[in-house]
Amino acid sequence: MGKVFVCDHPLIQHKLTYIRDERTNTKDFREYVDEVATLMAYEITRNIPLEKIKVKTPVTETESSIISGRMLGLIPILRAGLGMTEGVLKLVPAAKVGHIGLYRDPETLQPIEYYVKLPTDVQERELIVIDPMLATGGSANAAITALKKRDCTQIKLMCLIAAPEGIEAVQKEHPDVDIYVAAVDEYLNDHGYIVPGLGDAGDRLFGTK
Ligand code: URA
Repeated sequence: MGKVFVCDHPLIQHKLTYIRDERTNTKDFREYVDEVATLMAYEITRNIPLEKIKVKTPVTETESSIISGRMLGLIPILRAGLGMTEGVLKLVPAAKVGHIGLYRDPETLQPIEYYVKLPTDVQERELIVIDPMLATGGSANAAITALKKRDCTQIKLMCLIAAPEGIEAVQKEHPDVDIYVAAVDEYLNDHGYIVPGLGDAGDRLFGTK
């Protein structure tokens, strides 16, 4: 079963309050989301492996650590996932970015891929799928499935806010995927919104409401 990590650092929780606040304008909303993504990236990258290299300081030669092994790939789900991507890149600027676009088939209600563009070496990378709102889990599950179909094996999911329903859905379909969130909210309402949530993340990020 995938673990759920709630990134409850006070700075994250403080900024999340302003992200939730309906009075926060588009510019501030975008900035807060970007900042929270950077802070969450600090948690998500906590266990990436290090290796020792020799380094010569002005004083002496020593051994010091650098990040080793698998490189990272960020996979924002269009479009709201874009709002958190730059924030993560601030900490891991060498990460490659792939994009997955999904829409919901109006009849079957199943998510359909309309755009998938991934780094050529995506299978060799540790991937972070990014979607601010984990609501039903349909999009996250479809994006993770799309990556697994392309032989990706190391996948984490990063969201701002999750509904318990979404967490359960991802844990059921992808028990190997750990989920990083800033908050787990109460429930999904009849319109598919997370309660209390923040409204429509894409609209609030891009000012399209
Ligand atoms: N997507 C959003 O943007 N907000 C929600 O509350 C649920 C899904």
